[in-house]
Amino acid sequence: MGTAMDDVAATFREVYGADPEGVWAAPGRVNLIGEHTDYNDGFVLPFALPERVLAAASRASAGWRVCSDFATAPAEFSDVSEVGAVDGWAAYVAGVAWALQDAGHPVPPANLAITSTVPVGAGVSSSAALESAVLTALIDLGGLDIPVDARPAIAQRAENVYVGAPTGIMDQSASIRCQAGKALFLDCRTLEVEQIPFDVAAEGLAVLVVNSNAPHQHVDGEYGARRKSCEAAARILGVPALRDVAADDLDAALERLDDEVMRRRVRHIVTENQRVLDTVALLRSGRIREIGPLMTASHASMRDDFEITVAEVDVAVEAALMAGAYGARMTGGGFGGCILALIDAERADAVTAAVTAAYHRHGFRAPTSFVAVPSQGATRL
Ligand code: GLA
Repeated sequence: MGTAMDDVAATFREVYGADPEGVWAAPGRVNLIGEHTDYNDGFVLPFALPERVLAAASRASAGWRVCSDFATAPAEFSDVSEVGAVDGWAAYVAGVAWALQDAGHPVPPANLAITSTVPVGAGVSSSAALESAVLTALIDLGGLDIPVDARPAIAQRAENVYVGAPTGIMDQSASIRCQAGKALFLDCRTLEVEQIPFDVAAEGLAVLVVNSNAPHQHVDGEYGARRKSCEAAARILGVPALRDVAADDLDAALERLDDEVMRRRVRHIVTENQRVLDTVALLRSGRIREIGPLMTASHASMRDDFEITVAEVDVAVEAALMAGAYGARMTGGGFGGCILALIDAERADAVTAAVTAAYHRHGFRAPTSFVAVPSQGATRL
């Protein structure tokens, strides 16, 4: 930690000629289970990764300046009242300042230096980590009184309105509210959370993350289309959101829908919410291995009903299961990204080798993998 913190502080000094007032950090995440349920007012169970965005920052007299390891020249903006005035990676920073101001908070002018170890384009929420680090820094620098449970929605507005991606509230909630050694059970309607102990290492287990390295394609359009389809189904069923369809009422609900594709989308959301609840119940009683079949069922549902997987993630899940994983599933929005496999800790290399061999047979680009350790959410260092 020391070095990454020293590096970002050194970058800050180089660019702005003084020490930063502080350094803030916010992590990327993986989602253990509960995919596309967040914008349906449902349940999710993410945990934070050790990979994170660091923001060294100080108050300034006017405007905002931001430098980062994504870009050589610092971005500058003096006004954040107009949505979309800043683009590229700095839009995430300007968007957070805009969202704070738009919510009525006196956002402090600031200089920021950003570094990140969160892989970009892997579906582990590098953008939510950036938003959350900047948000936490600006809140502290401005002495703003914003309770932690109200913060993810501000970062989410930056993403939805300023950047223009119609995502739910899971990623920012994970980056801000997760705790080390825990998975975050979040009710996306009430925003209530329960920190669920998830000490896989103590059980001799590990969550292996395999990045499919598949090029993300059509992500935005397909994500938006799934969201629209769910909202249309809720309207037809006369409920505020698909969260309000109980698993026991699923068959009756499906009978009321004419469209076969929409029926599949609804079946994914309703069964996925139930799988989150079942996973939480197992974890509460310490039965970690037994969540494996729920993970695998979640993957089948994303592949067959929600249709958000690609060949690379399906092959990775299949290979991990063949190599002895208790369960495996894609994590994140879909169309590429990472899979999670729950495995015996000592099998990490063997499972990685099995996925790599399968990729070789299919002619896919080699995957990369790492063991995910449930880590702390956004914090001042
Ligand atoms: C992306 C979005 C989240 C969520 C997931 C799918 O990560 O940012 O809000 O919808 O996809 O679960």
